[in-house]
Amino acid sequence: MSSDFCLLIRNARILLPTGEFLVGDVQTRGREIVQVAPEITASATQPDRVIDANGLTLLPGVIDPQVHFREPGLEHKEDLFTASCACARGGVTSFLEMPNTRPLTTTQEALDDKLRRAADKCLVNYGFFIGATPENRQDLIEAQPTCGIKIFMGSMHGPLLVDDEEGLEPIFAKGTRLIAVHAEDQGRINQRRQEFAGISDPAIHSTIQDNQAALNATQLALKLSKKYQRRLHILHMSTAEEAELLRQDKPSWVTAEVTPQHLLLNTSAYEKIGTLAQMNPPLRSLHDNEVLWQALLDGVIDFIATDHAPHTLEEKAQTYPNSPSGMPGVETSLPLMLTQAMQGRCTVSQVSNWMSMAVAKAYGIPKKGAIAPGYDADLVLVDLDNYHPVLREEVVTKCGWSSFEGWNLTGWPVYTIVGGQVVYEKGKLNTEVRGQALTFEAATNTVD
Ligand code: DOR
Repeated sequence: MSSDFCLLIRNARILLPTGEFLVGDVQTRGREIVQVAPEITASATQPDRVIDANGLTLLPGVIDPQVHFREPGLEHKEDLFTASCACARGGVTSFLEMPNTRPLTTTQEALDDKLRRAADKCLVNYGFFIGATPENRQDLIEAQPTCGIKIFMGSMHGPLLVDDEEGLEPIFAKGTRLIAVHAEDQGRINQRRQEFAGISDPAIHSTIQDNQAALNATQLALKLSKKYQRRLHILHMSTAEEAELLRQDKPSWVTAEVTPQHLLLNTSAYEKIGTLAQMNPPLRSLHDNEVLWQALLDGVIDFIATDHAPHTLEEKAQTYPNSPSGMPGVETSLPLMLTQAMQGRCTVSQVSNWMSMAVAKAYGIPKKGAIAPGYDADLVLVDLDNYHPVLREEVVTKCGWSSFEGWNLTGWPVYTIVGGQVVYEKGKLNTEVRGQALTFEAATNTVD
């Protein structure tokens, strides 16, 4: 496809950066948006393709800032091609991927390998975290390009664990790039595992890795971030206690995210879907759901991530605690959140901000997250008028299941556009499209 390919989207309900909607047209050239107007005449612009978007809503493409795409090393669960296909179906046009692949992404070499693989096979745009071990401090400072340092303070993957203050302090003290933490207290988890050993009901997972374990780790990360004014991001915040802590005291250089599952599912899910509800940090109570929602609405939590973490059904069928933690998410996150908006819990504009612009700002990703001239043409056209259930037979992720099967959702993507090219259209993927490596501006100690 030529680099000045011109797409004209007509009659869409366009979400503008102001949060208002304009019924009108958007024109792209190459990878960029060039015009947004009530009417753009096709004869003047000579587009290569026109999409009639009558009745559809045009949003900036979703940036999912926490996913596990399993390549290299764990491709029986997912790979960068299948995962990026799932992204395209879900309206996710960019992702930030975690380092717990095999080998672990803890060196420049491993990062380069992932970037090469992604350039070869990813349908959407990509960025990668570098993972902290007790040993790789210099790599954490020097590796490029990366969206940030991922620290597993708990719920570790082999050497990807730095959970004590002595190990964490030098990482916070040296360097400036963003530190993203999986905040669970591994010491407490280990102790509680022994206490509750022998119980095979997966519901015990939420008791073992309890709210206190999450709170302890978040408190420690916050303490170190404040001491060094170090840019900190708290991944998949799951408890009321952490949200209240941040509500009381959140420095301008700290951000937090929540997953749709921690907003919409709780411990009652174990009874219905068993280990398909098992993840880290675990699902919590209805009260936690409510407090997290309020924190998101109030801006205490900044944005949404899925923590897409696929495992095969065979792996999930093992008896707890042998069953692995994690659930897929990139295909369902946007319709799940837009359904909440259509049911009055929040607005469409808030959902879009939490899933695009707020993420772009927090990670310093230029030219993403808005529909305006000069921004990248990463877009999603969604249908807010029709409901359709999450069906196992329609799922694209290699793992082949969803924790939200049977949920009747609206806001499903009809078209997904990456860099001005249609990558998903009415149930069909264009697997020829390739995304690009994301770039990241240096972290500052304010994200506003
Ligand atoms: O449940 C989870 N599974 N949480 C994580 O943070 C990691 C993930 C995985 O990689 O399976």
